[in-house]
Amino acid sequence: MRSSRTSQLSAFALAILMGTCVGASAAETRRAVFDDGKMEFEENCTGCHGKDATGTGELAVKLVKPPRDLTAIAQRNGGEFPFWRVFDIIAGDAPVAGHDTFQMPLYSQRMRAQEGTPGFLPSHVRVLELTHYLESVQKK
Ligand code: HEC
Repeated sequence: MRSSRTSQLSAFALAILMGTCVGASAAETRRAVFDDGKMEFEENCTGCHGKDATGTGELAVKLVKPPRDLTAIAQRNGGEFPFWRVFDIIAGDAPVAGHDTFQMPLYSQRMRAQEGTPGFLPSHVRVLELTHYLESVQKK
């Protein structure tokens, strides 16, 4: 159960988010979601997953289990991107080998801790944007 304070904060942040979109075209608004997701990815994920998300980050060689190619998630899943499974993994709600220990620090916890800090979107929005970003970089 989310506390009502959290919901209020989320609603507030969403209002700001929507406010910044007023006057923007649909394409610009969608572009903002993509750009945010890309920025989050570059800030938090490239160390292991690589700038192009294929698993070539400089830390990857140090990992016991190297990360798989994140642009081939759809390919490994019969051509369909499992959006909510990936969302749960990034949110820290679905454990994946390497995401529970040092191997992949719990970014979700950090994102939750940053909630309410000016300049930070609610964690579920950030996870949503990251998931959307990964969906958009899937190879066919
Ligand atoms: C410290 C290294 C590290 C960092 C940083 C990291 N990951 Fe991972 N990630 C891993 C490892 C290791 C795996 C598991 C390897 C495997 O089984 O494919 C993994 C797996 C995943 C998977 C599941 C892939 C699949 O095919 O099931 C997703 C999705 C993912 N990471 C997203 C992210 C996102 C988004 C970020 C940034 C918020 C991130 N990771 C940051 C190491 C890392």
